[in-house]
Amino acid sequence: MSIGIIGAGEIGTAFARALTRKGIAATIANSRGPDTLRDLARELTPHITAGTIEKAVTSDLVLVAVPWSKLPKALAGLPDWAGRIVVDANYPIERPLFQPAELNGRLSTEVFADLVPGARVVKAFNHLPPHLLSGDPRAQGGSRVLFYSGDARSKAEAGTLIAELGFAGIDLGPVSVGGKLVHFPGGPLPALNLVKFG
Ligand SMILES: NC(=O)c1ccc[n+]([C@@H]2O[C@H](COP(=O)([O-])OP(=O)(O)OC[C@H]3O[C@@H](n4cnc5c(N)ncnc54)[C@H](OP(=O)(O)O)[C@@H]3O)[C@@H](O)[C@H]2O)c1
Repeated sequence: MSIGIIGAGEIGTAFARALTRKGIAATIANSRGPDTLRDLARELTPHITAGTIEKAVTSDLVLVAVPWSKLPKALAGLPDWAGRIVVDANYPIERPLFQPAELNGRLSTEVFADLVPGARVVKAFNHLPPHLLSGDPRAQGGSRVLFYSGDARSKAEAGTLIAELGFAGIDLGPVSVGGKLVHFPGGPLPALNLVKFG
């Protein structure tokens, strides 16, 4: 399964580091172009390659980690996603004001899904701070927990990736359920650093 990453900030980079730790390849892209990611690509070579957004979105699974207000621009004008998996790692709230975005009663992942027509959207890789996502998932004799939600098939593929990365994946069901539990602000799970034993 090929992997793309849109957004090379704290979360996109943390995900890239987690992949590198397990020798998994990915293409990472930002708004300013691959040349601006040379240092990161050099550090994470040979696994992580800096590319254009157009290249990253051709991957089988694409993680998107971009500030909420910039998502429409980041995802505009791309071809239909044709059933590929898109992982929504985003929160509808932004530095520096931390003012929640107006979602008109919808879950942020439902709003996000409208920006990626034809994609199978999974909510994952969003509930931990970057240093825990990029760090060793083994902790206290167990494995650090990552939550994920989505439709059955895409969830299974995301769950497999989470396990390959060494985390204990916990399936929260469809986005209508899981998206609510990891919603920030308001959900009970964001920022919980949990370890699963056995
Ligand atoms: N940081 C956290 O603790 C944390 C935790 C959980 C979830 N999240 C969520 O993860 C997402 C990313 O957060 P972050 O902290 O990683 O942000 P960040 O450090 O500010 O990085 C944002 C990234 O998005 C890219 N970007 C901005 N506009 C873009 C566009 N039009 N096209 C392509 N890329 C674009 C930026 O590229 P350029 O620099 O080239 O513009 C940058 O690489 C947010 O939705 C946030 O809510 C963050």
